[in-house]
Amino acid sequence: MNRKQHWETVYETKDDLEVGWFQENPELSLKLVNKYSLIKAKPIIDVGGGNSFLTKLLYNQGYSNLTILDISAKALERSKNRFSESIEGISWVENNVLDFSSEAPYQTWHDRAVFHFLTMEEEINKYANIAAKNIIQGGFLILATFSLSGPENCSGLPISQYSEKKFCSIFNDKFSLIECFENVHITPSGYPQNFIWAVFKRK
Ligand SMILES: C[S@@+](CC[C@H](N)C(=O)[O-])C[C@H]1O[C@@H](n2cnc3c(N)ncnc32)[C@H](O)[C@@H]1O
Repeated sequence: MNRKQHWETVYETKDDLEVGWFQENPELSLKLVNKYSLIKAKPIIDVGGGNSFLTKLLYNQGYSNLTILDISAKALERSKNRFSESIEGISWVENNVLDFSSEAPYQTWHDRAVFHFLTMEEEINKYANIAAKNIIQGGFLILATFSLSGPENCSGLPISQYSEKKFCSIFNDKFSLIECFENVHITPSGYPQNFIWAVFKRK
């Protein structure tokens, strides 16, 4: 099964509370976006925004230029359904992040639990180049993946685990590390998952 088919099947067959990554309140993502995206009109992208509530909550806080990118049309449908009326200033883009390019770069690029699905060096480096190309100088890359003590797969797919050192070895060329820390996510069914978060500033 290819990557897109995998994710379409996930969202066709599972409700929000049946997927391990789901959070009704993505508290940490919100906190970091609030900390680094100080001007609410500047563009933000949520990569693999899928069924996340992040963009809806940011919209409610007054952020007015939001893009949700996801490989799955079904995931984007869920995201759209979070908004009751038709909304200006929000774009939903169905694409593989590895094929993504935008006309204008973003102030903030947020990715929770998407980058870690890339397991081949070539794809990992491609992602880093795409992120660098699509973030303005001085803009921020907020990344969350499973840590070295986290699970070895996610949604039944193998993932790459990260440490601060490993993040830096990939992103240091075009970004400076601002902060990095670990955090435990409790899945809707009650299991702990160790994540590592990094915030990089585009050089
Ligand atoms: C584990 S979920 C995380 C969802 C969300 N970021 C969150 O924190 O709740 C991964 C999401 O990324 C999407 N995805 C996976 N691989 C992708 C890719 N290569 N390009 C774009 N989206 C992708 C999936 O459809 C899914 O919605």
